[in-house]
Order: sequence, then C-alpha cells, then structure tokens
Amino acid sequence: MKETEIYELIEKAVEQLKFAYTPYSGFKVGAALLTGNGRIYGGCNIENAAYTPTNCAERTAFFKAVSEGERVFKAICVVGGKDGKLTEFTTPCGVCRQVMMEFCSPETFRIILATGTDHYKIFTLRELLPQGFGPSNLE
Ligand code: THU
Repeated sequence: MKETEIYELIEKAVEQLKFAYTPYSGFKVGAALLTGNGRIYGGCNIENAAYTPTNCAERTAFFKAVSEGERVFKAICVVGGKDGKLTEFTTPCGVCRQVMMEFCSPETFRIILATGTDHYKIFTLRELLPQGFGPSNLE
C-alpha cells in the first residue's frame, strides 16, 4: 500500500473516535475501511445498555459499506483506547475478524493497527485469523 493511502486511513479512523458511543466502557474505537474503488467508509463502536447488542467500529464500517452495495475491500485501519487515548494498538475482536473473512481475501486484505500516523503496523487477515472458516469452505 502507498504511504499516502495508509496515512489517509489512519486520519479517517482517528476522526471517527468522536462519534464512538461508549457510555459503559469508555473505550472508544474508530475504523476506516478502504474499498476496491477507493472509497473510504468510517465506523465507530456503538454500545448498548443491554451490552450484547454493542457493535464494534470495524463491523459498523463494514455494514455501512455492504449496505450501500460495496463488496470489494482492500484494507481497514483500527484505532482505539480508553477515553479515546491512543497509547497502544487496538486489535479487531474475533467476531469482526470473522466478518472480514466473509468479504475479504485473507492473503491480500490489510489490517492497519495504529496509534497515529507515526506508529502503525500492517497485518494480513490471514495473520490475524489463521485457518479461518469462510465462504470457500461452503463451495
Ligand atoms: N471494540 C471495538 O469497537 N473494536 C475492537 O476491535 C475491540 C472492541 C469495542 C466494543 C466495546 O464498545 C468496547 O470496544 C470495549 O470492548
């Protein structure tokens, strides 16, 4: 990926932190999802008083994109921390990794973990979900 593309995703993910709805955990997460045609969808976590309906930032971004017709994805950037402070990487939960597995190629889809444009690390989906179960298993 081009460095400018990576920076743009990190900045967009950080921007989403202000929308995070986190009255229960105070843990704010922002995501920015890059589609095959260059569009970027933002997402934030949205908590709920009944706890389990909580939606992670990554799934918010995916569901926004898929619900608008997108099916091809190149990368997602995830940032987060307690009270929105970005001190360490926030890694996608297992449910979000499984949602990525549904729509993304494990070898080519990139997951960018960042605390800012000056500190980030890039993983493939395969690295974060080895031996994942996906659509090809049902063919
Ligand atoms: N959360 C995310 O949005 N994404 C992650 O990658 C990890 C966890 C949210 C869910 C919940 O609102 C809060 O962080 C604490 O678990």
